[in-house]
Amino acid sequence: MPLIDLRSDTVTQPTAAMRDAMMAAELGDDVYGEDPTVNRLETWLANELGFDAALFVPTGTMSNLLGLMAHCERGDEYIVGQQAHTYKYEGGGAAVLGSIQPQPIDGDVDGSLDLAKVEAAIKQDDFHFARTRLLALENTMQGKVLPLDYLAAARELTRRRGLSLHLDGARLYNAAVKLGVPARAITQHFDSVSVCLSKGLGAPVGSVLCGSTVLIAKARRLRKMVGGGMRQAGVLAAAGLYALQHQVQRLDEDHAKAAHLGQALAELGYSVEPVQTNMVYVQLGERASQLKAFMADRNIAVTAAPRLRLITHLDVGSADIELVIEAFAAFRSI
Ligand SMILES: Cc1ncc(COP(=O)(O)O)c(C=O)c1O
Repeated sequence: MPLIDLRSDTVTQPTAAMRDAMMAAELGDDVYGEDPTVNRLETWLANELGFDAALFVPTGTMSNLLGLMAHCERGDEYIVGQQAHTYKYEGGGAAVLGSIQPQPIDGDVDGSLDLAKVEAAIKQDDFHFARTRLLALENTMQGKVLPLDYLAAARELTRRRGLSLHLDGARLYNAAVKLGVPARAITQHFDSVSVCLSKGLGAPVGSVLCGSTVLIAKARRLRKMVGGGMRQAGVLAAAGLYALQHQVQRLDEDHAKAAHLGQALAELGYSVEPVQTNMVYVQLGERASQLKAFMADRNIAVTAAPRLRLITHLDVGSADIELVIEAFAAFRSI
């Protein structure tokens, strides 16, 4: 029986059609700018999201890092959520490699950062302080979608206060599909956007940073510096292009599976946070480790977190969700 892996949407395998697209990709040396498939991916996504230029990189972590470093110089500061991936889960890269000081602030339950708190955190122009240059948001944020009018307000604030605005859009398309809008309706508010191809979109590797021509030229230089210049990378870019062109709309299936799972677990008596996209958060408290082992015996992979995150994706079918619900029901009764 194949494993039902709910730990992350990064665990998906490329589909047969995606592998065919990878096999057929035209290749060149991308450090010389000569890989036609990488160039096609970059142009395609920049156009789709309304930016001048884009840069293909191996990971979302690198994409965010290059975005932050392209916006901020040494001794600058970015404002970011305490739970944001760029702040909490990327090894402190912005500080370590970019000498950029993070100014974290607590997020709200809806995944947003209170803009009054953001504004209060902007430092005056005073040589005692780091220079606040950037606000970084994340969408979806732990599965929650930031409302479009919130993004417009964040844009207005950052323009008014002379900051740039970066989006960690690892799951940008989950947000767009959930809102029923083109992704550009979200990205139009930002100066730079990092999009992951290897999460719900189902490509094996890759992220793309989008921005102005000047910003992306700077990021391209930084990419080389951190060792992210790849050669015949079109074999990977082909998977990303395939994902963007064929595997976006199906994200609503992942959202429907997550909604069903969340509702079923709530009916079983679990404490479940409201589900918006492909993530279901369940409060397990002290039973987290026990649940992990219990599920492993049933060929279901989950992490051992007290606030457990279950993620639906391409490789979890509707029948799998029913098996998961049955397993949670059995766990409840022991
Ligand atoms: C919101 C978010 N941003 C960025 C990343 C980083 O992506 P990568 O694992 O490709 O470095 C992740 C990875 O899970 C993520 O969830």
